[in-house]
Amino acid sequence: MKRVDDFRLRLGKQELVPIMVGGMGVDISTAELALETARLGGIGHISDAMVPTVSDRRFNTKYVKDKLKLYKHNLSNMDKSVVQFNLGLLAEATTRHVEATMAAKRGNGLIFINCMEKLTMNAPKETLRVRMRSAMDAGIDGITLAAGLHLGSFSLIEDHPRFHEVKLGIIVSSLRALQLFLKKSERTGRKPDYVVVEGPLAGGHLGFGMDWAQYDLTTIVAEIHSWMKTNQVDIPLIPAGGIFTGTDATRFLEAGAGAVQVATRFTVTKECGLPDEVKQEYFITSEDNIEVNQISPTGYPMRMLTNSPAIGDGIRPNCEAFGYLLDSSGSCQYIEAFNREVAAHPGAKRISVKDKTCLCTHMRNFEIWTCGQTAARLKDTTTQGADGHYQLLSAEHVFNDYLFSTDNKIELPAAESHPC
Ligand SMILES: Cc1cc2nc3c(=O)[nH]c(=O)nc-3n(C[C@H](O)[C@H](O)[C@H](O)COP(=O)(O)O)c2cc1C
Repeated sequence: MKRVDDFRLRLGKQELVPIMVGGMGVDISTAELALETARLGGIGHISDAMVPTVSDRRFNTKYVKDKLKLYKHNLSNMDKSVVQFNLGLLAEATTRHVEATMAAKRGNGLIFINCMEKLTMNAPKETLRVRMRSAMDAGIDGITLAAGLHLGSFSLIEDHPRFHEVKLGIIVSSLRALQLFLKKSERTGRKPDYVVVEGPLAGGHLGFGMDWAQYDLTTIVAEIHSWMKTNQVDIPLIPAGGIFTGTDATRFLEAGAGAVQVATRFTVTKECGLPDEVKQEYFITSEDNIEVNQISPTGYPMRMLTNSPAIGDGIRPNCEAFGYLLDSSGSCQYIEAFNREVAAHPGAKRISVKDKTCLCTHMRNFEIWTCGQTAARLKDTTTQGADGHYQLLSAEHVFNDYLFSTDNKIELPAAESHPC
């Protein structure tokens, strides 16, 4: 019986373990998690979401405080168009984050960065260009284009000296999205090196509408795979979303996938950036505590635990400090929803905004507990202590479980004296 370890992913000259741990912003897929994945021979991701904030936490820099100071005068103004990112500082923060990560890399695997087009940052093109180019300058092994169609993203970096060296891939949820991307990028004379096909059970934002339950990963992967074969698009296809055991992964690899991208099982590892008490929320959750809703101002549906503190919260928009979702005219769907509620409840000390959330602030504070649909099975991957706490796992343990397990079995960790 085959298992994941019987397969290898070939990317250019490199042979890798066919496990990619997906990007999880904001610093949920930490450098530590990516480094551990690379050490074990797979591909790890850091994320380019809110990197100045991540840098402040990681390196004690003051990007957020300084930006807030600069735009403090605008706090009560609901027009946020003046709030601009300083591109030099954005480059500096990205370089710092990526350089430190790459300098610590050990082993034969790779470290990629997940770049989300939906982080429009009040200047979509300019900020995406800086984020990608700085990561390339700082030695990143690859860039996974996410949360968007990325029709112009290759042209933002085509004159970079590492354009043909850095591995470049895209996440799509349909054949149509892949076809559009390939057509638009063709002009740069470069194909992507891999394509991640993300199905409707994934964590984070979904590339589907609220009818996501009508789609399934196996069918989408088969359709894209067959089109790629017919059209000689000879690059690894990497399914993602709901791949919970080594057996699930092996099924895709046997059907011709180059690797699998996984994330939810790593949310309860010690290396994951979520606070420990949030990891316990992931462990105890059940299917009926997981929802897909439309509160993200990006416009994409997002999956999260129903008891995420961000849901229904009415915090004042914090764009002067963050502002990652401001569109090119300085607005964000949350600002509109917040203003509407303030106007409807004059004089109220606290308001609640139910239809949208201040994604930047709440992701920064780990108050949106986004997860894949399989999060309800996480409790089956570990042991529970006498005090009710579930034992956190090491990334190595989860990685090896994917690699070596058969028959849908999940290897439980050896008991620890201090479960958390
Ligand atoms: C907590 C969490 C955060 C995520 N954040 C992002 C993100 O910032 N960008 C992105 O492209 N995908 C994101 N994802 C999706 C994953 O990278 C991955 O493709 C997907 O979750 C795989 O499915 P699985 O979680 O069922 O294994 C996130 C997933 C989780 C669980």
